[in-house]
Amino acid sequence: MPAPIRVAVTGAAGQIGYSLLFRIAAGQMFGPDQPVILQMVEVPVEKAMKAAEGVAMELDDCAYPLLNGIEISDNADQGFKDANWCLLVGAKPRGPGMERADLLKDNGKIFIGQGKAIDRVAAENARVAVVGNPANTNCMIAASQAKRLPADRFTAMVRLDQNRAQTQLAKKASVHNTDVTDIFIFGNHSPTMFPAFHIAKINGKPVPETIGHHAWLQDEFCSTVGKRGAAIIAARGLSSAASAANALIDHVRDLTTPGKIHSVAVKSGGHYGFDPNVWAGMPVKTTGHGTYEILTDYPLDDFAKQKIAATNEELVSERDTVKDMLG
Ligand code: NAD
Ligand code: LMR
Repeated sequence: MPAPIRVAVTGAAGQIGYSLLFRIAAGQMFGPDQPVILQMVEVPVEKAMKAAEGVAMELDDCAYPLLNGIEISDNADQGFKDANWCLLVGAKPRGPGMERADLLKDNGKIFIGQGKAIDRVAAENARVAVVGNPANTNCMIAASQAKRLPADRFTAMVRLDQNRAQTQLAKKASVHNTDVTDIFIFGNHSPTMFPAFHIAKINGKPVPETIGHHAWLQDEFCSTVGKRGAAIIAARGLSSAASAANALIDHVRDLTTPGKIHSVAVKSGGHYGFDPNVWAGMPVKTTGHGTYEILTDYPLDDFAKQKIAATNEELVSERDTVKDMLG
């Protein structure tokens, strides 16, 4: 067995935390041979810390063979100490009628302190995945605070959107979701995101050819995927949690599995017409344990260019809103 890795999870007593921690401890994120130490991070509020202790008790009660330790803390310097992976989930969720960007003023500031702390105390090889909304811009804030860790260590999650898009295409074509491949999310984790159906394939054939219904792809499909989070809030009264935790498992597992091609929000570097300094969803290929290259050669048609311009504009405007939070 290799040495255990340290995985810090913020928002450990929250809804996503409750779905996520058990799956990490069971080996679903880092594989069946990789022991883990969980560093649960919460706010210094008695109710949250008590709830985190309860979750830790339940983790103990699972007797997971790969779980080599549980630490609970209410501060970032302790919580991220020596962490190899920092999973930044802890933030306010939106309620009905809100957009994720409405959370920026409250949630953005969390990522200033956490970005600084990760840079100070996390492991040399630390990598960060941001889930707390609005995830792309929060990730940019955290990365901007880091002076030691390079920007490519900071990723935000658009995998839930990729998974949603995959299933919507499968349902429309009456195939199994595993028959749908090459579906990538470009841009913001918001209704402006572009699920790039023109690249996607069903049983190896281009989606536009297989589905044939262009108006559905351009309108209903993009809108259903982009507004799925709000539809879940409307139905459940709470934002997605189990599917979000599942997507984070997929995000990190695929980022640590060489050869995987998947959607990740990364510093755009100007690819696909994005502003170089925003975090935008795009296709990446994993090259090693947490390392990746952006795949830059997928073609964009006029519709794709127009969608990407709109989501880029929103990312740039979110960056303007948080300019005082950037390091
Ligand atoms: P929740 O309210 O159930 O839990 C959030 C937890 O975070 C709480 O226990 C809270 O005490 C804790 N927290 C708040 N600030 C913290 C901090 N500074 N440090 C550590 N912990 C902190 O919310 P949830 O449903 O688990 O959602 C968490 C976040 O994830 C929300 O912002 C939500 O919008 C977002 N989300 C993102 C995606 C995505 O695809 N990117 C999907 C679903 C949810
Ligand atoms: C989601 O996409 O389900 C999450 O980002 C939660 C939300 O606010 O929609």
